[in-house]
Amino acid sequence: MGSIIVNIFSFTTFIIIIISISVASQPTSINRHYYQLGFATNNIVSKCDFLTNSCRFRNQHNLATYNRYYNAEKMFFDRHSLLLLNINAPRSQRYPGARLITPYYQAKYHNACLFVSYRYSGPGTLRFFIIQQDIDNKCIFSDDHFKSSISISNENVWNHLELQLDLSDGDVRFFLETHFNSSAKAGYFAIGDFNFGYGNCRNKNENHCYDNIINSHINVAPTAN
Ligand SMILES: *[C@@H]1O[C@H](CO)[C@@H](O)[C@H](O)[C@H]1NC(C)=O
Repeated sequence: MGSIIVNIFSFTTFIIIIISISVASQPTSINRHYYQLGFATNNIVSKCDFLTNSCRFRNQHNLATYNRYYNAEKMFFDRHSLLLLNINAPRSQRYPGARLITPYYQAKYHNACLFVSYRYSGPGTLRFFIIQQDIDNKCIFSDDHFKSSISISNENVWNHLELQLDLSDGDVRFFLETHFNSSAKAGYFAIGDFNFGYGNCRNKNENHCYDNIINSHINVAPTAN
């Protein structure tokens, strides 16, 4: 009886030692995730210019849709390839906006940078915003034409963003959302480049949607998977 108790005791001690060894070895792997890389431009792991495909971006159901534009001869918005949202299209007239959903990106490091370029023409783009989805929906950037004080983009030129990301909540995907101006559904909105790299942005254009105070209207509707 006594030896059984001793055995249970030593077995428990053994388990505790195993647990403490695995706990002790944990910080090294966590630290590795915090490792600060240099500039993200040197660590691009996903590069989309939509030249050969749509990079597995997809449209949210029951909204207006982006289509890939590719034409070797004829440029649109000074490019041969882009993802184009035609606001003049009959389908766009029936919906309040569009949402592009990107594939998932791994949280191999906690710091990463998202490079996005976008361009629009016409009065139809009311606002454009980007949501980071991990365990939560986080609005990381908004460009709101309705409030001229916080509209940071220009019409008919490519607007380039560098958005510093915090990936401490795990793998991410992004929603690129465009809301239409209901009083003038005319014009075009386009995404030209969408690149993801680990490390730091050189410029930081993220505004976290002004901490959702000004943009409290931004509510992420549920998505199918
Ligand atoms: C919405 O469209 C109307 C009509 O063209 C225009 O006057 C207004 O400036 C547009 N709003 C925005 C935010 O672009």
